Amino acid sequence: MAGRTAIGLDIGTTGVRAAQVTVSKGTAVLDRFGQVALPAGAVRDGEVIEIEAVTEAIKTLWAQVKFTQKDVVLGVSNQKVFVRQVDVPWVSAGELKASLKFQVADLVPMPVEEAVLDFVPLDEVEGEQGRQIRGLLVAASQDMVMGSIRAIQGAGLRCQTVDLSSFAVLRAAGAADPLGLSGPEAVVDIGARVTNIVVHEGGVPRFVRILMLGGDHVTGAIVERLGITAQEADFLKRQPATSTEPAVLDARRIIDGELTAFVDEVRGSIDYYLATTGSRPLSRLVLSGGGSLSDGLAQRLATAVRTHVEYGRAFGSLTLGKTGLEPVQMQYVEPLAAVPVGLAMGAV
Ligand SMILES: Nc1ncnc2c1ncn2[C@@H]1O[C@H](COP(=O)(O)OP(=O)(O)OP(=O)(O)O)[C@@H](O)[C@H]1O
Ligand SMILES: [Mg+2]
Repeated sequence: MAGRTAIGLDIGTTGVRAAQVTVSKGTAVLDRFGQVALPAGAVRDGEVIEIEAVTEAIKTLWAQVKFTQKDVVLGVSNQKVFVRQVDVPWVSAGELKASLKFQVADLVPMPVEEAVLDFVPLDEVEGEQGRQIRGLLVAASQDMVMGSIRAIQGAGLRCQTVDLSSFAVLRAAGAADPLGLSGPEAVVDIGARVTNIVVHEGGVPRFVRILMLGGDHVTGAIVERLGITAQEADFLKRQPATSTEPAVLDARRIIDGELTAFVDEVRGSIDYYLATTGSRPLSRLVLSGGGSLSDGLAQRLATAVRTHVEYGRAFGSLTLGKTGLEPVQMQYVEPLAAVPVGLAMGAV
């Protein structure tokens, strides 16, 4: 196949998903996409717990979808990933890469030799300490990352790079506004247990927050309060908010309470960003992830964050290749595809 090809692999709580993207003659094509469900407990709160179960799911995925290579870009996002804006003394880009470990040792909440580090430079600032580089520092626990890498290797694949899932969501679902003319945009990917919030301007991430909250917390609350199974609760959760079925009405009261608490958390993160940076107000908020499909959530967010809310289109900037998926299947998976698509887009 001509052009550059990359595969993004998202190991989520509910399943493994992979997207293969090829860029050729300036066009990005989605060649392959697939997902395989994971048994409960294999991934907990965004972290691989049962390596063999995850390996099995990846093997099944590779058997089902004819991916053309074994190198994958792995996404990580969980409570063992730390992302903060920091200022470090100015050095050239090359020196910074070499000295990052020493520069940030005091800034990360884990021993720096046990962390996988990344730094996204944003601005140069002149402060009391002299000339400094302001950027987003990412530090992920090496042990946690190794769990995912072992699961990948067990399936006969190679981990080409590790990327922050939040950055992937930004690439796949954020607006293409290279000059940042329309103001900052928030991209919010809501999964089963993990929510990634990224505020960016013109594609440059300014703020990242990883919340350990998602759709499963809503299901869990229904299970607990109504004494029903998770499967029954999940069914009720997916019914339209306008349903007048008594069981749905009971569930709805619980869902409403959970969504209110969730929306407050998202608003808190965004208000913090706006207040600490003196940023312009958000131009809009873009949603992705299965948890974002909860009926009524988008409207609640729009009111709470006082901005326009819409759903991201992970396949929007791609030409669809011969993925083997029917249009209706593509429509179904698109809200779940921002992480794997964005991981692949970052590597082609
Ligand atoms: N139509 C829907 N209405 C409401 N909730 C939904 C709907 N579809 C999926 N969900 C919820 O979305 C969540 C799964 O989303 P997603 O597949 O993005 O998570 P994940 O990537 O597997 O998990 P995580 O990113 O948290 O590790 C589940 O809680 C599920 O119940
Ligand atoms: Mg996810």
